[in-house]
Amino acid sequence: MELPDGEIIRIRGWIHHVRDQGKILFLVIRDATGLVQTVYKGANNPDNFDMAKGLARESVVLVDGKIKRDDRAPYMGLEVQVDSIDIISKSDPEIENELRPDSGPEVALDKRHLVIRGESTTKILKFRAYTLRAFRKYYDDRGYLEMTPPTIVQTQVEGGSTLFEFDYFGEPAYLTQSSQLYLETTLPSVEKVYCILPSFRAEKSRTKRHLTEYTHLEAELAFCDFECLLELLEDMTVEVIKLLIEWCGDIIKDLNPNFEVPKRPFERITYHDAILKLRDSGFTWPDGTIIEEGQELTEAAERALVDLHDRPVFLTEFPRGLKPFYHKIKSGDSTVTNSADMLVPYVAELIGSGQREDDYETLMKRIDEENLDISPYYWYVDLRRYGTTPHSGFGIGIERFVQWVLGLDHIRDACLYPRLINRARP
Ligand code: 4AD
Repeated sequence: MELPDGEIIRIRGWIHHVRDQGKILFLVIRDATGLVQTVYKGANNPDNFDMAKGLARESVVLVDGKIKRDDRAPYMGLEVQVDSIDIISKSDPEIENELRPDSGPEVALDKRHLVIRGESTTKILKFRAYTLRAFRKYYDDRGYLEMTPPTIVQTQVEGGSTLFEFDYFGEPAYLTQSSQLYLETTLPSVEKVYCILPSFRAEKSRTKRHLTEYTHLEAELAFCDFECLLELLEDMTVEVIKLLIEWCGDIIKDLNPNFEVPKRPFERITYHDAILKLRDSGFTWPDGTIIEEGQELTEAAERALVDLHDRPVFLTEFPRGLKPFYHKIKSGDSTVTNSADMLVPYVAELIGSGQREDDYETLMKRIDEENLDISPYYWYVDLRRYGTTPHSGFGIGIERFVQWVLGLDHIRDACLYPRLINRARP
């Protein structure tokens, strides 16, 4: 909105920054729309001016004044010339000792409730909110329905090693790792479905891309084969990014100036070819050994693959032993699955996806191969008995998406209050 020179204005907000130059007081005021510099000369209103000079940062004020357009002003090309200031609440001057420029990351996390008032964290949180809005719009516009499956469950989805287990009134239960299996159960009634919910992983290592609780967007689509799935993921990624550039391109420009809409088509590489490509590129494990067929592709290997390409990479056809039971076995090659991980810069794996095993016998065999007790999965395998269809789906970590687009070094910065191996507070 264009604010004309000379317009009378009232601002309600928090004092973000104070610069007291004796006869002139510069206060930067923050509200939900951003920051603005106010200039208080106070000669006509000395009592009020003296009171304003005593205010600590984060005090909440009502400022009455006049717009003065000035291209040199630090925010919005204008400043506000103050007539008077009313106090809504005074902040404790101790605020100045809460966080210092040299406070380390742990102190910053302890004081996260204050850090989120900062300029770049505010931008990230706004961008994160728009990201959720953009994904919802993408799916709502295409006729998907949003569901909210339970987060207290009794089935594992992504392997036992990252399960948070607890006692549920005498029975073992887990915090969900993924809502996928529940979303699949809704396909016979609604066909296209998504959810945005927390997933929990008891990640035991510290990395820059793992949280113990994260926001997981997952979707499932009936009658969608593997090719249809990859097309959906490519289209979703590009369309959501275009929406975000339209809605908050200024934030992307500020925080990650070189970010561009990814080029289509995305690269597709089978697991087998990825191993060969990594070997050719000279990739080795930290102990100097070369990568072998059948090994997990670690974060370092994924990153090396991403670096070989100028666009997102679909890593497809993982061996059946490397992917959970629900992935469909490829027709014509029972050693690999119709699975795809999508890799991007900064985070490497952004999306885990695949066509689902829709054949009853094969699914039972796969659950058995993983030594899982079939009984808690009775409802999941019933889907293959009563009207099964080809179907596919995926999961994307919202924090990793934000990390990628904004070029953030650490995933903790993409959360409101990160949950990490050593931290569940504040
Ligand atoms: O690859 P994952 O484990 O796949 C699943 O959970 C499937 N059941 C999803 C589905 O098909 N519906 O996880 C999916 C995505 C990852 O690609 C990553 O972006 C994110 O979830 N993710 C994490 N994000 C932050 N911290 C963690 N510990 C994460 N683990 C997975």
